[in-house]
Amino acid sequence: MASPKPLKVLFIGDIVAQPGMDVLQTLLPALLKKTNPDFVIANGENLHEGRGLNDELVDACFDMGIHVLTGGNHSFDKHHIFKRLKTENRILRPFNYPKGNPGIGFGVYEIPNRNKKIGVINLIGRTYMQPVNDPFESVDYVLSRIKDEADVLFVDMHSEATAEKMALGWHLDGRVSVVVGTHTHIPTADARVLPKGTGYITDVGMTGSFQSVLGLDIETAKRRLTMLTPQRYKSAQGDLRICGILATLQEDGTCASMDQLLFPEFETTRS
Ligand SMILES: [Fe+2]
Repeated sequence: MASPKPLKVLFIGDIVAQPGMDVLQTLLPALLKKTNPDFVIANGENLHEGRGLNDELVDACFDMGIHVLTGGNHSFDKHHIFKRLKTENRILRPFNYPKGNPGIGFGVYEIPNRNKKIGVINLIGRTYMQPVNDPFESVDYVLSRIKDEADVLFVDMHSEATAEKMALGWHLDGRVSVVVGTHTHIPTADARVLPKGTGYITDVGMTGSFQSVLGLDIETAKRRLTMLTPQRYKSAQGDLRICGILATLQEDGTCASMDQLLFPEFETTRS
């Protein structure tokens, strides 16, 4: 008997403002055709002008073929989205924020045409960030709730510190299918499968303008760093790229491969 077709999950790194949407609208159809994923997850906390989300952008993401949006420290920045967070299970915000905040931090979803379910968990770190609840304890709790219900499990750990993401990866090795780090917007070169079968990367990187400082206009970023006062967010415009990870999962839920996607790829020589 032929072995079952492996399950492919595409994760798109933090979509930053309109340039992030523009590059997805232009290049995502080709990327989907090339990679043929069964399920698509994207981090959407920077969708609306770099901070937060709105209904229109969320709908545009779902229309493009993204099944679930994860979040982070900017999930609650635009209060107009609160109503949607309370009713829409396809938008996640980090689970380990204090109780009472709108939205949910994990969900179990049908994978189209595969007769399988994927559990998606969104967490946030607390090193150099807000003192939220312990992400390690929180994920243990979530797994106790959904591990029997989901065939595969995917974790987005939104965190500043590489050590915190790496430690969570080890904490979950063999217990979930994939752990990806988000938030720092710089793709790291450590995509791999950990010894017990969990796919891992410290940071997927961002989707948007790379002629920028993490998606922010270069002059604005320099002013923030030199003046040490808040500056109005201005998104950069040039050099648009998609950062992502294509995880191929086996029948038992372990990860067979983690392919890093930089689309188009970075040039490493001067053209
Ligand atoms: Fe963030």
